[in-house]
Amino acid sequence: MTRTVYVNGEYLPETEAKVSIFDRAFLMADGVYEVTSVLGGKLIDFEGHAVRLERSLGELDMKMPMSREALLEVHRELVRTNEITDGLIYLQVTRGAPGDRDFLFPDPETTEPTVVLFTQSKPGLANSPVAKTGIRVISIDDLRWGRRDIKTVQLLYPSMGKMMAQKAGADDAWMVMDGKVTEGTSNNAYIIKDGKIVTRELSTDILHGITRAAVLRFAREAQMEVEERSFTIEEAQQAEEAFITSASSFVMPVVQIDGTKIGDGKPGARTARLREIYLDESLKKAV
Ligand code: PDD
Repeated sequence: MTRTVYVNGEYLPETEAKVSIFDRAFLMADGVYEVTSVLGGKLIDFEGHAVRLERSLGELDMKMPMSREALLEVHRELVRTNEITDGLIYLQVTRGAPGDRDFLFPDPETTEPTVVLFTQSKPGLANSPVAKTGIRVISIDDLRWGRRDIKTVQLLYPSMGKMMAQKAGADDAWMVMDGKVTEGTSNNAYIIKDGKIVTRELSTDILHGITRAAVLRFAREAQMEVEERSFTIEEAQQAEEAFITSASSFVMPVVQIDGTKIGDGKPGARTARLREIYLDESLKKAV
């Protein structure tokens, strides 16, 4: 089946969808994105992603290209047309295509933003076998820019990080700045130490994960202690458990860091419980 995608107000077969070569995201990575998961045909935490999108755009002097309700309708229409049961919706908003290359931002009155959405079907996304075995991560220097709280499409370094992990026989990389873990290449990083969930505090150093916010809320509701502070790779290697969160992996156990097993090298019980709570509670509120 040919995917139907959304480009600037139109629903088109993916083979007919086009964006200008002068698009600011193509030339300058001048755009932001969101990834929202779909489970059982419903969107997980749509509201959180819409709020973050608006914030990312605002930080870059861009406006929401449509109302939140209209955006939800585009998401739903794509889920329907592409018959997505489980999967992801990718959304990208760029500063548009001013018709030439120029470092200065174009006038938003004359250059419309480019809005693209497409679906990725991933049957059984919530039942990934990897959640039962866990992933192995390596540590790498965090060489990204200083505004990681804005979800821009500058993903070259995260992409290189995943390649470095693959070459090292691992599944992903945790990035380290000034000796402390910032986050994973496309996820937030956590350890469990003395029974407490530890994850880096929010700042411009990391993306404010929508899954992170939900998981920490559910954890507190379940009387689990949370400590928002940074930690080192050495501390993580000695932790009781470790895991990552993101819209595409939910809560995923980490069982090895730089070749050192975490605990007995198997996914931890509290991580498994958090994954269960996250999926149960998020599904209840899915739209
Ligand atoms: N990545 N940190 C980074 C650097 C990310 O790219 C992501 C998400 C997260 C987790 O955020 P959330 O819980 O809102 O998905 C943290 C998406 C999934 C991606 O690039 O595919």
